[in-house]
Amino acid sequence: MRKLDSAVSGIHQTDARSFMRELPDASFDLIVCDGPYAVTTHEWDNVPDIQHFNLELLKSFSRLLKPGGAAYLFGKPDCVDFIDYRPLLTLQSRLVWYQPSRLAQGRVSYTNNYDVICYFTKGKVKTFNLDAIRVPQLVELEHRLRCERVPSVRNGKYGKTAFHPDGKNPGDVWGDIKQLTYKSKELVSRELLNTIQKPEKLMERIIKASSNPGDLVFDPFCGAGTVPVICERLGRRFVACEINPDYCRIAEERMAKAANGNESSENLFEFSTVGRNGQLVISQACLV
Ligand SMILES: C[S@@+](CC[C@H](N)C(=O)[O-])C[C@H]1O[C@@H](n2cnc3c(N)ncnc32)[C@H](O)[C@@H]1O
Repeated sequence: MRKLDSAVSGIHQTDARSFMRELPDASFDLIVCDGPYAVTTHEWDNVPDIQHFNLELLKSFSRLLKPGGAAYLFGKPDCVDFIDYRPLLTLQSRLVWYQPSRLAQGRVSYTNNYDVICYFTKGKVKTFNLDAIRVPQLVELEHRLRCERVPSVRNGKYGKTAFHPDGKNPGDVWGDIKQLTYKSKELVSRELLNTIQKPEKLMERIIKASSNPGDLVFDPFCGAGTVPVICERLGRRFVACEINPDYCRIAEERMAKAANGNESSENLFEFSTVGRNGQLVISQACLV
């Protein structure tokens, strides 16, 4: 069995499945798993039965998570169909990452416009930092405030519906985070577009929601290193692995830049509020 401390803050060039077998039980607060989807032509994505592949992953995650820890499993809409994950982990949400502008268009059926991100926990949720991931209210403010004048809302009976000045829960359909395009400043190379590199904002929402500074995050399929970069930026510790040596090198270069604070302007975070007419108002931007 590998000592966990020796694995922390490293990007390990290895097969995730054998690597996980060497790790001790209850090691991680959060696992972010953006591995094979079984839909692309990459050799590593040639997985004949993705549901059983994912079931094996979930068995490992169930062992590796601390009680209450969270695992996010990325995939296509059918990625956990007809497998019984219930003895292992609790499926809290099937998040939909909605991508309306997907270029590939279906000819014999409807174009698939979303990925799913299955959000599991090991038992009762330990960490859910809603305030860290609030998004602007899109419901017209006037309408919203009028509803809140209703006595049953004011006297607390429906208090959970109350307008929150810092924004709302992002919900389980995430249409506000765009896929990377070839123009995205954070894109490492065009080869990584679409099937490999994920937007930093997507990983950031997950990491902010389900971990705290100092927590230990595991990314078994780290590709170009988006999760390690965000962990570094947000003060989380991480363990990551990736089978492809070229991607490991890219991830390490990104990490080095993140550690030096020498990152792209995509790290500008916008703070937005809702104007009187319910429209979004970008009020300020700052480097984090
Ligand atoms: C979808 S990409 C991950 C992208 C990453 N989230 C990012 O933003 O850059 C999946 C990665 O899993 C890697 N991979 C596939 N099978 C693997 C395995 N058995 N062990 C480790 N890495 C693997 C692939 O090389 C690929 O880089």
